[in-house]
Amino acid sequence: MIREAEEIKTCPKHTFRDKLFDFSCRRIGSQQTKTLFKLYDLATFDLYGKPKGAIGAIDITNRCNLRCKHCYFYAHDYAEKPELSDDEWIEKLEGLKETGFPFYQCSWIGGEPLLRKDLLERCMKYFRSNLIVTNGTLELPNWPDVNFYISVDGKKETHEAIRGNGCYDIIRKNAGRNDLKISVSMVINKMNYREIEYFIEEWKEVGVRGCLFQIHTPVKGLANNDFWPGWKLRDDIVDTLLRLKEEKYGDFIGMPVHVLKLMKSDKCKEVTRNCIFKKVSFCFDPQGQIKKPCMFGQQADCLRCGCILPFHLWALEGKWLLMRELMIYFKRRVGKKMLR
Ligand SMILES: C[S@@+](CC[C@H](N)C(=O)[O-])C[C@H]1O[C@@H](n2cnc3c(N)ncnc32)[C@H](O)[C@@H]1O
Ligand code: SF4
Ligand code: SF4
Repeated sequence: MIREAEEIKTCPKHTFRDKLFDFSCRRIGSQQTKTLFKLYDLATFDLYGKPKGAIGAIDITNRCNLRCKHCYFYAHDYAEKPELSDDEWIEKLEGLKETGFPFYQCSWIGGEPLLRKDLLERCMKYFRSNLIVTNGTLELPNWPDVNFYISVDGKKETHEAIRGNGCYDIIRKNAGRNDLKISVSMVINKMNYREIEYFIEEWKEVGVRGCLFQIHTPVKGLANNDFWPGWKLRDDIVDTLLRLKEEKYGDFIGMPVHVLKLMKSDKCKEVTRNCIFKKVSFCFDPQGQIKKPCMFGQQADCLRCGCILPFHLWALEGKWLLMRELMIYFKRRVGKKMLR
C-alpha cells in the first residue's frame, strides 16, 4: 500500500511532516491520517492560496505498447533521447525535496506509465495523492490508494480503430476490479461522439467508479489530425454531457455541471487563454525536464484545448476547497448508508 509507515522509510530524506504522518498512522490508522492531512492542506490552500506546483503530471516513460492515432505524445520526438533511469528519477525527486516542492498531487502519464511499475511504486511515495492514467492493457497493480483512470475511446470497434486491434477485451477484464479505485476516461472526438451514452452504460456495467470526459485537443505535428469536432459539434457534445448528467447519470459523470458549462464555446476561450493549469502546475517529460506549457507540449492548440484541468481549476478559483471536500465526503457517506 502506498505511503504505509514502514515503506516511507525507503525515502532517504524524511521531513517533519513525514514523521508526523508515520506517527499518526501508527496511532489512528493510515486512512484517517490521510483524510486529516488532506483537510489540513485544503484549509491552508484556502487561507494562503495553492502553492505553485501543488498539482501536475510526470511522463514517467517515453515508451508505450500502443500507438493511438490521436495521441499528442507522439507529436514529440522522444525516440532519440533516453528516458531517465529509475535512480535518476529518484535523484530528481530528492532534488525537488530540497527546494521545498509541495509534493501534493501527481498524475503519472507518459507513454504508458504501467510499463514502469517498480519505479512508480518508489516515486509515488513522495506525493500525498497519486493518479495513474493508463491504457489499461497491463494488469493493474494492487495499489488501493491510487486513483486509476483507464483511457477508453468508445465502443470496441471505435476504440480499436484508434488504439489497435485486440486491446478492448483486455481492458474490460483489467478494469473489473472492485478492490481498486478505477474510473474510465474518454477523449471525445469526431469519430466517437455518438457513443457517449453507450460508453457510460458499458462501464457502469463493468462496475467502475465513474467516468470522465475530455474533448480532443488539436496538436501540431500529429500524423492524423482529423479528430477535432469543430466548435458547433463541440458545443453539442457538451450539451449532451450536461443533459445526460442532469437527467440520468448524476455523479457517475465525474465533472460538475458548472465545469462543463465553462467548456461551451462562449466561455472556453477565456479559460484556456488564461490557463490556470499552465500557471500553477508542474510537468516533467521523460528526461525529467520541465515540459511547457503542460503535458500536451508546445505544439498544443491552447485555444481549442478540451482538457478538463483548466476548466476545473478555473471553477475552483476562489472557492472554499475545504468546505467543498467536506460536502463531497458527507455526500458519499450518506450515499453509502442509503445503499445499505
Ligand atoms: C498520453 S496518454 C498517457 C497515458 C496512457 N498511455 C493512456 O493512454 O491513458 C494520457 C491521456 O491523454 C489522452 N490524449 C492523447 N492525445 C490526446 C489529444 N490530442 N487530446 C486530448 N487527449 C489526448 C489519452 O487518450 C489519454 O487518456
Ligand atoms: S494515448 Fe496512451 S496508450 Fe495511446 S499512444 Fe498515447 S501514450 Fe500510448
Ligand atoms: S493545452 Fe490546455 S491545459 Fe495545456 S496549457 Fe494549453 S490550455 Fe492549458
